[in-house]
Amino acid sequence: MLILGIESSCDETAASVCEDFRNIRSSVISTQIEEHKKYGGVVPEIASRRHCENILAVTKQALKEANVTLADLDGIAVTYAPGLIGALLVGVNFAKSLAFAAEKPLIPVHHIAGHIAANYICHKELEPPYLCIVASGAHSHLIEVLSYTEFRVIGRTRDDAAGECFDKCARAMGFPYPGGVHIDKAAQNGNPAAFKLPHPAVAGTEFDFSFSGLKTSVINMLHHADQKGEIIDKNDLSASIQRTISEIITEKTIRAAEEYGYKKIALAGGVSANTGVRTALGTACAKRGFEFYMPELKLCGDNAAMIACQGSYNFAAGITADESLNAVATMPMDNIIY
Ligand code: KG4
Ligand code: ZN
Repeated sequence: MLILGIESSCDETAASVCEDFRNIRSSVISTQIEEHKKYGGVVPEIASRRHCENILAVTKQALKEANVTLADLDGIAVTYAPGLIGALLVGVNFAKSLAFAAEKPLIPVHHIAGHIAANYICHKELEPPYLCIVASGAHSHLIEVLSYTEFRVIGRTRDDAAGECFDKCARAMGFPYPGGVHIDKAAQNGNPAAFKLPHPAVAGTEFDFSFSGLKTSVINMLHHADQKGEIIDKNDLSASIQRTISEIITEKTIRAAEEYGYKKIALAGGVSANTGVRTALGTACAKRGFEFYMPELKLCGDNAAMIACQGSYNFAAGITADESLNAVATMPMDNIIY
């Protein structure tokens, strides 16, 4: 089975061809980071325009590298939710037209389900059920992966996502967008115990996250230091932020696994590239004898290989869309509407 995947939910235009669920024949990504960097974050209208300019070339390249034609495909999968609405609309409309012209089924894919599926590409033995922690720029979810196409959310962020917290702390320290990776790099040379930062708890729900208190505490610390003319060591602060976020993610994930009886844990989303998070969760799982899975670095951030892979599972489960498919900016994981 050959599925073309298309991704345009944020600032990456991507296309990929996946064979038999998990074998990636091609994965092309055109990133807009350099352009958005100038503004300190993604500018939605610019993102939509760049997707519009690039999506055909990226798709042609993915088909070429996979050595397939449109006629060879079994279906065309596309991210239709959640994300920036203007950005999603470009991918959805393009995929819909392509499916119509090539007379192929159109397969809708939820972006977070795609992030989870990145693990199937890297770990051929991984099968549901398992517990997945998805941490990205827009989401922090603890998810029971019940089957390839069924999910139950047991925890989510009440305010900022983990990636957003990394990025906003990074911006306050003067690092360019997207700052998560810069904190990761600076943390390599810092002392993770240098600053004691809060581990915000959320009243009433054990498995929900809250990262805005951590962000505010970092911003206040930098502000006060600035007012007093003090200099804060960015490496130490980065290492302390990274350690705190890694601890929060690890503690909640392990506790949820114990409570819900999972011995298999996966990590996914852009923040799964973070060295501290990978190590902390990996070590905690190893200590308890849990199986631990995470994507290789190139599949942590937004890409279309994960969409093509999840699209293959959706297609196998009979999930296809008709010509009325629309993009949806917000859609909870445990209530995916196809
Ligand atoms: O999954 P993703 O590419 O986009 C969304 O779906 O949101 O995630 C992007 C997020 C950004 O916040 C980015 O800073 C963060 O992932 N990120 C990292 C690292 N690499 C990417 N955060 C911390 N450490 C990293 N190495
Ligand atoms: Zn993403």
